[in-house]
Amino acid sequence: MNAPTLSQDELKTLVGQAALKYVVPGEVVGVGTGSTVNKFIDALASMKDHIKGAVSSSEASTQRLKALGITVFEAADVPELSVYIDGADEIDHQGHMVKGGGAALTREKIVAAQSKRFVCIADESKLVEHLGAFPLPVEVIPMATERVIRQFSAMGGSAKVRQKDGQPLVTDNGQHIVDVTGLKIADPLAFENQVSQWPGVVTVGVFAHQKAQVCLLGTGSGVRVLEF
Ligand code: A5P
Repeated sequence: MNAPTLSQDELKTLVGQAALKYVVPGEVVGVGTGSTVNKFIDALASMKDHIKGAVSSSEASTQRLKALGITVFEAADVPELSVYIDGADEIDHQGHMVKGGGAALTREKIVAAQSKRFVCIADESKLVEHLGAFPLPVEVIPMATERVIRQFSAMGGSAKVRQKDGQPLVTDNGQHIVDVTGLKIADPLAFENQVSQWPGVVTVGVFAHQKAQVCLLGTGSGVRVLEF
């Protein structure tokens, strides 16, 4: 008899719970943003008395953590974290990721940078051979968006400002998001270096410098652990 197929939501729950194993008791844990991380936050409530608290990468995650009684620290007050747990829009076989579908990429990159280990939690649809199919989020200072869009066009991409309720979406940092399609990201590290230099770019959603060391991938046959 075939095992029942799990829905995408159930796969997210599975990896959210599996990530608890990577949380270090007695310490502060780095927490990302998104629907998969929400499952992790819900699971984390079961060990809230065994951790000091969390550093969060977005207002949305902060609210969810606090609602469950988990203390949230400012990133600046916790110089180093053992582990950061977050989702991804795409992850390749080297642990490079595209992130920012939830517009939280800048704070995600900051918290990832102060963490010794990045544990990515994702359902199997996120694993790709090469980054680039998911529209690449780039956080940009509003006065630079048109210029950045032209620079992506010159690279062969097609970019537009992300909208919310008919207006440009405003991030937790007061900036805009440009989503770029049609790019081939053959060398994630070089790409991240290049775009990060453009004036007005706050954060590019390629995570190559802050890549994952572990990915917990939800599959129909359980959690697959990838190590990079
Ligand atoms: C948030 O800005 C993103 O980086 C998320 O981590 C990413 O979009 C994955 O989100 P889901 O878990 O909702 O797919």
